[in-house]
Amino acid sequence: MNEVEVVLSSGITYPVIVGNGALKKLPDLISDGSNRAAIVTQSKIGIAVEPGIENKVFEIDDGEEAKSLTTIGELCSAFASWGLTRADVIIGVGGGVVTDVAGFAAATYHRGVDVIHVPTTLLAQIDAAVGGKTGVNLPEGKNLVGSFWQPRGVVCDLDALDTLPEDELRSGLGELAKYHFLTGDPLDQMELQDRITRAVEIKAGIVGEDEKEQGKRALLNYGHTLGHAIENIGNYEIKHGEAVAIGLVYAAELAYTLERIDHEKVVEHRQVLESYGLPSALPKSMSDEDLLISMTRDKKAVEGFTFVLDGPNGLEVVQGIEENFVRETLKKVR
Ligand SMILES: NC(=O)c1ccc[n+]([C@@H]2O[C@H](COP(=O)([O-])OP(=O)(O)OC[C@H]3O[C@@H](n4cnc5c(N)ncnc54)[C@H](O)[C@@H]3O)[C@@H](O)[C@H]2O)c1
Repeated sequence: MNEVEVVLSSGITYPVIVGNGALKKLPDLISDGSNRAAIVTQSKIGIAVEPGIENKVFEIDDGEEAKSLTTIGELCSAFASWGLTRADVIIGVGGGVVTDVAGFAAATYHRGVDVIHVPTTLLAQIDAAVGGKTGVNLPEGKNLVGSFWQPRGVVCDLDALDTLPEDELRSGLGELAKYHFLTGDPLDQMELQDRITRAVEIKAGIVGEDEKEQGKRALLNYGHTLGHAIENIGNYEIKHGEAVAIGLVYAAELAYTLERIDHEKVVEHRQVLESYGLPSALPKSMSDEDLLISMTRDKKAVEGFTFVLDGPNGLEVVQGIEENFVRETLKKVR
């Protein structure tokens, strides 16, 4: 079993436990003062957890539509009817949709109760469940309402991944590929447990320096400017990690166009993504115009086009990139 300690500048610390059978450690993470655990999950996940205190399962629907204020309202009403108190704990058992919802419900119910995440997708284990970003979607856009609310702990049980559908695993690999370029670590040469642990360490390091995304944490959005546009235009039918994979190749090509990196670096990006069996070309149906419009709406866009790009000093947020470079580079991922 591996353990990563997340240490935040605010003084909060918590463990992320990674390994087969890690769920056995769940009772150790619960505060002595908690008498009840509300377990938030989805019906098709089917992973039973034993918190060691009185508990009740609260199921939410599947998919991005379930990440809504309606779900939060329904959950909080159900918690109140059951008698969940401020001293109790919420446990999110699922992918990023569940951990985002459970985390946001925990941040707001009784103005904040403990939450423990049990991520059951690769994407949630290496990314969504770690770092304290929680939130839901509005009809107007994704993740528009949320809060920073750090968990008491995170349990990444590798056994949970046994039932994960192939396309969901590939989606996680897209986010995993991102971590290669954040630090240059050869994650593809590691065993799964070490790979997940290293990705968590990298994320923990960045979040530790910048808990509320006022600086370095934005680097975790590498590949996401085009990635979000692809997801958005494709009505979220393209998996997040696959969209990010194309976004990573595009970001490398854009950095090359802007003479920030040499061509070898672009080849390295393509090789890593290929080794994970991820796509590197845009769906044919998506027009340049739609992608350009969607990219200017990206949350990171302050003026014009903003990307996280590789360069002589590693990854950086680069603002105000001229449209002709952005447009021309789209051809490289056609
Ligand atoms: N908070 C953050 O920092 C952060 C970071 C990245 C992504 N996210 C969010 O995460 C969400 C995506 O998360 P995701 O990719 O995990 O998708 P998801 O939560 O929708 O899960 C994908 C599917 O897999 C199913 N599933 C989950 N675990 C399973 C298992 N072990 N066996 C079988 N089926 C299982 C789910 O029911 C769902 O149908 C997005 O909403 C995204 O915005 C949040």
